[in-house]
Amino acid sequence: MKKVYITTDIPDIAEELLKKQFEVVVNTDNKFLSKEDLIKIGCEYDAILSSLTNIFDKDTLSKCTKTKIFANYAVGFNNFDIDYIKEKNIIVTNTPGVLSDTTAETAISLLFAVSRRIVEADRFVRDGNWEGFSPKLLLGKDIYNKTLGIIGAGRIGHRFAEKLRGFHMKILYNNRNRDLCFEKSFNAEYCEIDDLLKRSDVVTIHVPLTEETRYMITKKEINLMKEDSILINTSRGSVIKEDDLIEALENKRIYGAGLDVFEDEPNVNSRFFKLNNVVLLPHIGSASKETREMMASIAAKNIIRILEGGEPINLVYK
Ligand code: DGY
Repeated sequence: MKKVYITTDIPDIAEELLKKQFEVVVNTDNKFLSKEDLIKIGCEYDAILSSLTNIFDKDTLSKCTKTKIFANYAVGFNNFDIDYIKEKNIIVTNTPGVLSDTTAETAISLLFAVSRRIVEADRFVRDGNWEGFSPKLLLGKDIYNKTLGIIGAGRIGHRFAEKLRGFHMKILYNNRNRDLCFEKSFNAEYCEIDDLLKRSDVVTIHVPLTEETRYMITKKEINLMKEDSILINTSRGSVIKEDDLIEALENKRIYGAGLDVFEDEPNVNSRFFKLNNVVLLPHIGSASKETREMMASIAAKNIIRILEGGEPINLVYK
């Protein structure tokens, strides 16, 4: 019987689907898996249902001699050495599509949490500081009729724009390639990054983490942004140079930021904790019950396909 290892405690549907025909082991305690652990698993199991916290660098992958498919439980796959998997035709799959709406909703939640100071206001009430209605209490800023800059107009960027239609925002976007369909649907204008940063009131990032996008936003880029602008990141932490963003938030160089992702997860720079103009989430972009179940089912189906000798549904490279 073929063997499958699930590296994190994901919704049961994956195990249920897989155990109909394979022997399945789940790391139910979410025990940290070191490089040595991953190599050992890769020498013993025909398939690994991996998480974005499992780092498969070139050396690790080259020693996973038994594994025929790595089904990553995420749309992002920066935890794999992309060049190496392409070179060696290693099968790595992801879970695109099903999490776009949920992740866009998380990004939008962050946007309003920052613009209307929701977390700060909640804390204010809980701390017993509220003395009654006051016209100047916790004033935020409006979003409607403002300019929205989308960096990365892929599936999630599209959903973000779509869900904010009623807010009548002018949409600017930057993408690897121009998307005429997107331009037409949203009356969106393609911009170089610098131009987008200069003109947007809200900047939301939806790019994958690659060598080109790492540190795409540093002090230089932040200094182009409007002083009352908001930066939202639900993609990957390393797209932004975190120290530069912290400095900008400390100096009130921008209005605020909403972050679901960090450079060194789960470690979050404690300088953030002192700031009221940032909202911090523990990488929950796709964390709705429905979406996490769909992701589990897609990952399992990719494994079933490959172990049955078929083609993967969501190969991460073509
Ligand atoms: C992803 O899928 O890449 C998210 O970061 C987690 O769902």
